[in-house]
Amino acid sequence: MSEHPPIPPVEITEQAVQNAVDAALAAIATASDTATIRAARAAHTAEGSPLSRMNAAIRDLPAERKAAAGKLVGQARARANQALADQEAVLAEVEARAQLDAETVDVTAVPPRRALGARHPLSLLMERMQDVLVGMGWEVGEGPELDHEWFVFDALNTDPDHPARSEQDTLYVAPTERHLALRSHTSTVQIRSLLERGAPLYLVGPGKVFRRDEIDATHVPVFHQLEGIAIDRGLTMAHLRGTLEHLARAMLGAEAQIRLRPNFFPFTEPSAEMDVWHPRAKGGARWIEWGGCGMVDPSVLRSCGVDPDEYQGFAFGMGIERTLQFRGDLNDMRDMIEGDLRFSRQFGMVV
Ligand code: PHE
Repeated sequence: MSEHPPIPPVEITEQAVQNAVDAALAAIATASDTATIRAARAAHTAEGSPLSRMNAAIRDLPAERKAAAGKLVGQARARANQALADQEAVLAEVEARAQLDAETVDVTAVPPRRALGARHPLSLLMERMQDVLVGMGWEVGEGPELDHEWFVFDALNTDPDHPARSEQDTLYVAPTERHLALRSHTSTVQIRSLLERGAPLYLVGPGKVFRRDEIDATHVPVFHQLEGIAIDRGLTMAHLRGTLEHLARAMLGAEAQIRLRPNFFPFTEPSAEMDVWHPRAKGGARWIEWGGCGMVDPSVLRSCGVDPDEYQGFAFGMGIERTLQFRGDLNDMRDMIEGDLRFSRQFGMVV
């Protein structure tokens, strides 16, 4: 037995053709999208549909009926096909328009405003100071923030009982047998760069440093320094002075000057405290303490495998927060670490 009911033979009468056309036109007229028009085509004009079967049945009619039936069915099929084509065109148009509407971009719409981030004034200043030295042919070097005590102190000729090594000043990281400290100055970069690159060397090392300082208007326990080291044949304090003066003028203007006062650092000999003449300081031009410097101690060169009879050089280091403070006439260093955008905006939102 067949699964499908037998398809009844079609009869080609005017009424039957009319019924088939009416059904086809009704289905086509109410088709409202691609899927329903496809269904109408399948049911009313495609192979197997009444009109198609009538067309096929013409073949079996007696000869005298063929012409009339052919005309009747032919006209009916033509009407149905035309209606189908017209409706398809209409639907295609409607669907294309709907798609265009859905994909419309309103070029006048206001996009959600997302403020871009910007560099912190300290980063900008540190970069600017580096740029001045890079402009003289210096390289930039780095070192880790957590370093072995040997790099922070021993290689820098700092005795085991030097007060800077005490836990009151320096932050050590447990366990103590590992001798790891958060570097208290960027002078570690002198050692690392000499060991890595050897002499001659002209290198600037910017970075974060850590000290056990209470926070107040002129101290923060995590701050930034810029260390410079130059090692070559025949370098003298005159080169040190000239370099610092150039840096000072690039930062504070052509009238800026450098003054060196004798001081002591374990890693330089002679050592000096450097002051800078700030021509536009708030309340009038004046000398401001800027940092430390000196001629690199021969023992430091020896620790790094450099022969002090062949090479000499100088080093200097200064605080970036301090530089930003006097350069920007800022009363309180704490403003630099609070993350208040109103502070940063004064320096321009440079990305
Ligand atoms: N490391 C010193 C400090 O932190 C600064 C300094 C650097 C001094 C280089 C001399 C030479 O105060």
